[in-house]
Amino acid sequence: MRTYHLAVIPGDGIGPEVVTESVLTLTSLAAAQGSFHFDIRHFDWGTERYLREGAMMPVNGLTTLEQGGFDGILLGPVGDPRVPDHITLWGLILPIRQAFDQYVNLRPLRLLPGVHSPLVDKHPQDIDIVCIRENTEGEYAGVGGRVHQGTRDEVAIQSTILTRSGTERIMRYAFEYAKQYGRKKVTSATKSNSMQYAMVFWDEIFHQVAAEYPDVSHEQQLIDSLAARFVSHPESLDIVVASNLFGDILTDLGAAISGSLGLAPSANLDPQRRYPSLFQAIHGSAPDIAGKGIANPLASIWSGQLLLDFLGEREAAALLMRAIEEVLANGQAHTPDLGGTATTRQLGEAIREKVRDNWAKLYERRYRAWSHNKMSMAGLITCSRSDLDSRCVFPGKRYCFNYFNLSQIIRLLHRIEAVLATWNIRSEKANVRAIEPAYSEWGYLDSQ
Ligand code: IPM
Ligand code: MG
Repeated sequence: MRTYHLAVIPGDGIGPEVVTESVLTLTSLAAAQGSFHFDIRHFDWGTERYLREGAMMPVNGLTTLEQGGFDGILLGPVGDPRVPDHITLWGLILPIRQAFDQYVNLRPLRLLPGVHSPLVDKHPQDIDIVCIRENTEGEYAGVGGRVHQGTRDEVAIQSTILTRSGTERIMRYAFEYAKQYGRKKVTSATKSNSMQYAMVFWDEIFHQVAAEYPDVSHEQQLIDSLAARFVSHPESLDIVVASNLFGDILTDLGAAISGSLGLAPSANLDPQRRYPSLFQAIHGSAPDIAGKGIANPLASIWSGQLLLDFLGEREAAALLMRAIEEVLANGQAHTPDLGGTATTRQLGEAIREKVRDNWAKLYERRYRAWSHNKMSMAGLITCSRSDLDSRCVFPGKRYCFNYFNLSQIIRLLHRIEAVLATWNIRSEKANVRAIEPAYSEWGYLDSQ
């Protein structure tokens, strides 16, 4: 069984509520799927810690994340009215993005069936944009300073830093993404009419990289008119590559036209996998509704889906995405931001139930071995894979379950498959012994 080490930082405001739903969903999905599981470590980093101890995370926080062997970080929103935002954000999320070279901020912006866009004539097929936001430099490089503070001569400087390597790699990621996911066009957000150094440089590199990808079309557009196009013709956009600040602004806009800020996820990626990548909803900490149990957990759950995809758990990722789509389309578990009355927990539960149902259907087809939670071991094995010689492993009805659930069946089947992979016909007893621990750990074994 594959183990993924996950760092969970619930963050501020509605963070703990929505991140809990995301974690519950990931763990229940893993339990159902049966071939991987999460080893989770929680960190209480955030504004409460800042108020208690004077820092958002410990001095060695980054080292702890780096050396902890984490495959991913699930982070809640950060920000609290009691502390200025630039303190909290430069105390947690921004240093993580930079230190772990998470240079891609991947943000799918989709209008899903069952959700209403404020753009009344737009439908799901009209809004399906992926924003590839540069995430470590640009306007967020953190370079600048203030002098003569509080005097008439005060000066504040905040510099945009664009490096050739940093700009090239984000452009290249956008085109590679287009190739990998069968997308057709990359639009670059620019402002080279007024920013004659940084953005002219940005455009030059965009065209250089685009030339390497003749099969993907490309265009550039000034950020102001591109923002207008998000509203007037979102259907004409496919992939958008943008600098750090432009991408930040465009993705809130993209989330809003997709029906709710409560839906849009993000993945802060180090595509080279030298450091753990981080998965986080695009939205903020919403202090006004914190603790009320009504926040929409889907942006956080969908961020978990991006994590599964990044880990290579494609089947699980696809299943979770389908559950999100179906639950939204059905409409019964919509939270208030979507016009419904469901709670955070109810929407999370609806997703998990849908995931379990869909697994059941998938495995029913795959193994034709699912009958009202009740089945004899012999029945299960007879119905399972045709290359499985049940008689050798399971003499008679010695192993009979009175009751077991779907995730247990699936785990058992995985176990059986693993044993079959090293099948040794001369040693039936060894085979039985290899499978036996899988029975007893569930405690449902009725060995007659
Ligand atoms: C986002 C957020 C952050 C950003 C803030 C909280 C620093 O708005 O992830 O979009 O601007 O990157
Ligand atoms: Mg933002």
